Amino acid sequence: MKLWNKKIAGATVLSLSMILAACSGDDNADGGENPDTGSDGDNGGSEEQVEIVYAAGVDVTGATPALIEAFEEANPNITVTYREMPADTGASHDQYVTSFSAQESEIDVFDADVIWPAEFAQAQYALELDRFIEADGINMDEYFPGTVASGNFNGRQYAMPKFTDAGLLYYRTDLVDTPPQTWDELFDMASELNGEGDTQFGYLMQANQYEGMVCNAVEFIAAYGGGVIDENNQVIVNSPETVAGIQKMVDFVQSDFVPSNILSFQETETNNAWVGGQAVFARNWPYMQATSNDEEASEVAGNVGFAVLPAGDGGNAATLGGWMTMINRYSEHQEAAWEFVKFMSGPEGQKISATVGGRAPTLEALYEDPEVQDAAALFSNEEFVATLQNAVPRPVSPIYPQISDIMQVELSRALAGEITPEQAAENMQTKIEAAMAE
Ligand code: GLC
Repeated sequence: MKLWNKKIAGATVLSLSMILAACSGDDNADGGENPDTGSDGDNGGSEEQVEIVYAAGVDVTGATPALIEAFEEANPNITVTYREMPADTGASHDQYVTSFSAQESEIDVFDADVIWPAEFAQAQYALELDRFIEADGINMDEYFPGTVASGNFNGRQYAMPKFTDAGLLYYRTDLVDTPPQTWDELFDMASELNGEGDTQFGYLMQANQYEGMVCNAVEFIAAYGGGVIDENNQVIVNSPETVAGIQKMVDFVQSDFVPSNILSFQETETNNAWVGGQAVFARNWPYMQATSNDEEASEVAGNVGFAVLPAGDGGNAATLGGWMTMINRYSEHQEAAWEFVKFMSGPEGQKISATVGGRAPTLEALYEDPEVQDAAALFSNEEFVATLQNAVPRPVSPIYPQISDIMQVELSRALAGEITPEQAAENMQTKIEAAMAE
């Protein structure tokens, strides 16, 4: 199947390692008895080979194969097979739930959106990581606290932070002198500049019915002073501020400067149109700095700037995103899986994600690293680092998928003009309250 293992060329190596593992009665090879599997690559030949399967979403930056290669080089006794999951986080989520709820063991390590760990911990899909963290003396205080919190459930750590995300405004420096400060200014500029420099669109965003659209909506809603659930767990979405935010989002979606199929735009469509030089402005996550400046694949390399997202009446807001990495509770290779998790979330792995993938580190010290700063201009930009620290989380709840589904349905209807922003806010209020009361 398409989603299985892109690394066809590595198949012989993998099956050989599987045969070796099977012949040597590998069941416990990386269990408790052999805690240093993978940590000591030097005596390679004498250690048993272990193959682990790593699942992660489509990565247009090339960082995923680079991470795997660097890890395998440092750990010659562990082979990592990449299982490519859908780019749409919601679609990946559903595949994981299907596999883990059936207690399948084929995936060892997987990347998890920051909105999943609570749910996966509660459902007992994920391996608790505290004993590994302690044994390897990893200091969780070196990570941004919010990212550690996303992976913590009932006081236990189930996920290691890999990179953090916040929505950003990208603009063409060859077409725009000063980026807009407010959503209204962006609207006017997108409208006026559309068509300049062979562009076809003033603005690109994610308006498809999926999780990324909820992220865009949270930004509009927060910029106009609204919110979804407050810190006391009260649903507060039906407010004039939220309605104003949704209205502004509707204005952009229904404008004549976005693609006519904007309702099917996710990050992938945004990135493709952007690097193709088709738009003046775009909203996307930090990784697009890497794809934008990839000389081979991008027509806009060297002409891309970024700014914080514009402000509404309530200031500016970026949605907090990001990815963690976790171990399947049913993995049969837990020690080797941990080695890979430790590598990806540690300084070396995060540096590869930052320099090859343009992804924002969760280890604070990496922002001072000259190579990281050189590789991606965002990381030496104080305003950006502040944006990361102030990003607005989506509602934190073990029933987040349900809340998101409700938002996706109601917001999509508003974006398509089937209901008013007022009706969308009212419906979200009633339905989210009902879901939380269950
Ligand atoms: C990015 C974010 C993630 C979010 C997703 C939505 O991958 O890191 O948190 O849910 O986009 O598409």
